[in-house]
Amino acid sequence: MNIAEEITKLKKEKNAIILVHNYQRPEIQNIADSLGDSLGLAREAAETDARIIVFCGVRFMAETAKILSPGKTVLLPRKEAGCPMADMVTVEDLRILKEKYSGAKVVSYVNTNADVKAESDICCTSANVIEVVKNIKAERVIFTPDKNLAAYCQRFVDKEIIPWNGYCYVHEKIRKEEVRLAKEKFPDALLLVHPECNPSVIDLADEVLSTSGMLDFAKKSDKKRFLIGTEEGLIYRLKKENPGKKFYTAGTAKMCRNMKLTTLYDVYLSLKEECYPIELAREIIKSAQKALEAMLKYA
Ligand code: 13P
Ligand code: SF4
Repeated sequence: MNIAEEITKLKKEKNAIILVHNYQRPEIQNIADSLGDSLGLAREAAETDARIIVFCGVRFMAETAKILSPGKTVLLPRKEAGCPMADMVTVEDLRILKEKYSGAKVVSYVNTNADVKAESDICCTSANVIEVVKNIKAERVIFTPDKNLAAYCQRFVDKEIIPWNGYCYVHEKIRKEEVRLAKEKFPDALLLVHPECNPSVIDLADEVLSTSGMLDFAKKSDKKRFLIGTEEGLIYRLKKENPGKKFYTAGTAKMCRNMKLTTLYDVYLSLKEECYPIELAREIIKSAQKALEAMLKYA
């Protein structure tokens, strides 16, 4: 039996499901029960009947799954797979800002640690950020941790958004100069970028979308060529699902080293040994669940 077959066997024996983010390595994408963006995977985690969720992504995603399904065992195959952006905001610092802007509501990107979610009024993802901020009952919003996502959202809402000073090191590396050159090289291609990109890159885009938003858009579009401004892992899936179309990175390929830590062997071990379970304090789960469930009302 090869390793993928071993994984399938263990999955059945243990009543487990494998959730995989769109940036994971191709061989991990290929064994997914559900492959998607942060919002889609959060929904899957909330709805599954499986006993075990193996989350192939980064820690905040596995924590989100645990918060939404606290009775289940949620496993992160590589315990060190974190998101540097999520670590840019701490509860202590957020409390200071909340005191300074009393009356403001806190919207936190799902790319935050569980304790920060617990301190927030509502969460959002790149797929529903505008809806969430538009609908929150406050004229002033503290937004953590991504300043680029906050700036993107500010383009569509009249409210005052107070951004945290965080960013994604992967998307921040996409420079407008290289994107311009890519556009010159492929003038007929549509440029799809992720809202974690710098505003100077967003200005050049034809569409600004979450990772699954890019997949849906590319599938439905009549265009044949696309420039993709996000982590390079998405290109594998775009090509696989759209054989008649061409996809190019907008500039040099950018890789999230945290997303790429998980290997097939890690997934096998994770299932076999049931490692590494996400454990969170009950009070954190309770408060963070309110913020996440409030988010799940938005598309
Ligand atoms: P989405 O897949 O939700 O667009 O998120 C991108 C990302 O950077 C996750 O860490
Ligand atoms: Fe975090 Fe950026 Fe990696 Fe996503 S791509 S996990 S936001 S560092």
